[in-house]
Amino acid sequence: MNTSHTSSNLKSDLSDKTFLIAGAAGFVPSYVCQNYLEKGATVYGLDNFITGSEENIEILSKYEKFHFEKCNIYESLPDFKDVEFDYILSLASPASPIDFKIIPLEIMRVNSEGTLKLLELASRHNARFLEASTSEVYGDPEIHPQVESYVGHVNPIGPRSCYDESKRFAEALTMSFYNKYKVDTRIIRIFNTYGPRMRPNDGRVIPNFINQALRGNDITIYGDGSQTRSFCYVTDLVNAMEHVLMLGDHMPYNIGNPDEYTIKEAAEFINQALRSDSKLSYSPLPADDPKRRRPNIDRVASLGFSPQVTFEDGLTRTAKFFKEKI
Ligand SMILES: NC(=O)c1ccc[n+]([C@@H]2O[C@H](COP(=O)([O-])OP(=O)(O)OC[C@H]3O[C@@H](n4cnc5c(N)ncnc54)[C@H](O)[C@@H]3O)[C@@H](O)[C@H]2O)c1
Repeated sequence: MNTSHTSSNLKSDLSDKTFLIAGAAGFVPSYVCQNYLEKGATVYGLDNFITGSEENIEILSKYEKFHFEKCNIYESLPDFKDVEFDYILSLASPASPIDFKIIPLEIMRVNSEGTLKLLELASRHNARFLEASTSEVYGDPEIHPQVESYVGHVNPIGPRSCYDESKRFAEALTMSFYNKYKVDTRIIRIFNTYGPRMRPNDGRVIPNFINQALRGNDITIYGDGSQTRSFCYVTDLVNAMEHVLMLGDHMPYNIGNPDEYTIKEAAEFINQALRSDSKLSYSPLPADDPKRRRPNIDRVASLGFSPQVTFEDGLTRTAKFFKEKI
């Protein structure tokens, strides 16, 4: 993995550190594991494969200091009798809207009971804890771009609420452990992230569009395509996360790339980048779909982070991955 854009503020050798990473078989978490393994750390990964892939664990198993245990983190965590964790990263949660309808209770349980178990472990180990929250905590935002002090506009009973509200609860739990038990906590709010290793049928916009374009099918746009998103390439996210973990404080950080595209522009961009002539077709907009989404990243930028991968570059790398899958 290319980590050449890592800022000089970050240590390149973490060989004396031990990480626990929940959700290791997932898209983002597999890159996070790999980043710390590349820096020599010992990494324990946990996953129940509800949305993760065995292939990602095969990639990570090539590293000698990677250990994996299959488990459902909201049921019970392994004993870890002889291990002392320095860092515990709470990254286990399905994140795609197609999952919200199918496994809402699993999503709510992992972000509540699962996060609680990881926080209790962090407290026992005196480990630094990071919660991977989401831009969805802002709901359909009334301010633009979104800053961390904005408290959000979320429908508690809508089709996205199992995810949005359970992530808000995970943030509340994390803050409570910081306040009451003095656990050294971090919260990141991740905006749309994409890259290789996403599921082709993931339901999120970039893999959807790329797979439709590669197959020469119509690109399906929900609504009129004027809603906006900001897309962050996965290695930039990993890098931003490390800045917050190592150099940040306990208050939330937006993580993402502030370049903003309408969904229609993104579809046209993908068609152009992949030299595809797929037509754009339109379907009704799902309820509570956020109309505008763009992070203000001043807080993470003040730690030395800036995104390095352009949309065009990131799309090319992602399309190459999906081409090999087809
Ligand atoms: N990718 C994004 O754009 C994005 C945006 C905002 C937030 N996030 C957050 O980042 C994290 C990773 O997201 P991702 O996109 O890589 O999703 P992903 O589904 O690829 O990864 C999540 C992993 O968690 C595992 N998991 C889920 N429930 C579990 C449980 N009960 N026990 C053990 N393992 C469990 C899944 O099997 C999967 O491997 C999630 O917390 C997600 O909410 C991602």
